[in-house]
Amino acid sequence: MIRLRRNRQQPWSRALTQETRLSVENLIWPVFVHDGSQGPEDQIIPSMPGVFRYSKNSLIENIKIASDLGIPAVAIFPHISASKKDEKGSEALNPNNLVCETVNLIKSKVPNIGLICDVALDPYTTHGHDGIVEDGKILNDATVEILCQQAVNQAKAGADVLAPSDMMDLRVGEIRKALDLKGFQDKIILSYAAKYASAFYGPFRDAVGSSSLTGADKKLGFRDKSTYQMNPANSDEALREVELDLSEGADMVMVKPGLAYLDIIYRIKSKFGVPTFAYQVSGEYSSLMSAAENGWVDKNRIFMETLVSFKRAGADGILTYFAIEAAKILRG
Ligand code: PBG
Repeated sequence: MIRLRRNRQQPWSRALTQETRLSVENLIWPVFVHDGSQGPEDQIIPSMPGVFRYSKNSLIENIKIASDLGIPAVAIFPHISASKKDEKGSEALNPNNLVCETVNLIKSKVPNIGLICDVALDPYTTHGHDGIVEDGKILNDATVEILCQQAVNQAKAGADVLAPSDMMDLRVGEIRKALDLKGFQDKIILSYAAKYASAFYGPFRDAVGSSSLTGADKKLGFRDKSTYQMNPANSDEALREVELDLSEGADMVMVKPGLAYLDIIYRIKSKFGVPTFAYQVSGEYSSLMSAAENGWVDKNRIFMETLVSFKRAGADGILTYFAIEAAKILRG
């Protein structure tokens, strides 16, 4: 008789028959850096318990810890003061902006860790949209022009991976051309290819200081990115997004958010067989963490269960705010 419980009886037989394994090499740690010279080094983000906005110096110390644990790469997100923001996100093009300075510093102090920089304007614009807004519309091609310059700016500073998270059409191809033109043929493009218009990004917008609403968004009561980010109900469209980004020169693709989109990860990985990453975003992190903090779920078990599920669905790696803790658990 077939009895599937036989293999589940002992720890050794469970280990031997385990199909999917998560390792530290699968983790990417998203980090926030602030430019405040005053106040605490590490700023608390109330909607993301256990996650901080680091000062540059404190970030270096923490990135050393990540590197020593074996985490292959970090993704850097800036929190700049409101006075540096404008309608067009001009600060994104400043060669000495917070991201460029931080990248530079990390490269000199922790040279072996991979550095991923977001290509999008939202941390730099007063309205918090990822692109240029005119008469309430997000302008695609005008935005792409600026994104190309932003990507080159970050590449010059030493970013290894440029990660367009803006969801404009045709941006991957244009960014690839702009990088090539400046001699950056070897920079990796990790495209946020299937990025959904999600309520799970709420806490992130607090973290980078882009949550205050203006104009039409204020009337709606939330930042509406649904003219560029995908409809959560769509799945075939995600494959088209990935196909286009690959044809335009993307080296890796991402699905975002993570847990609510495991089917998308599975379809993309099955169809294209390319490096595919999942982003366990801020709202996913905070939902799990707040339940854990209330004692309603077991923190380590619930996070490790979600992380392995991304791999089971086909992801090669996961961006997660839980990366340091997960790495410590995996290292034993
Ligand atoms: C911005 C960007 C967002 C995230 C990563 N890059 C927010 C958004 O699109 O509004 C979200 C990450 C998270 O929620 O953890 N282009």
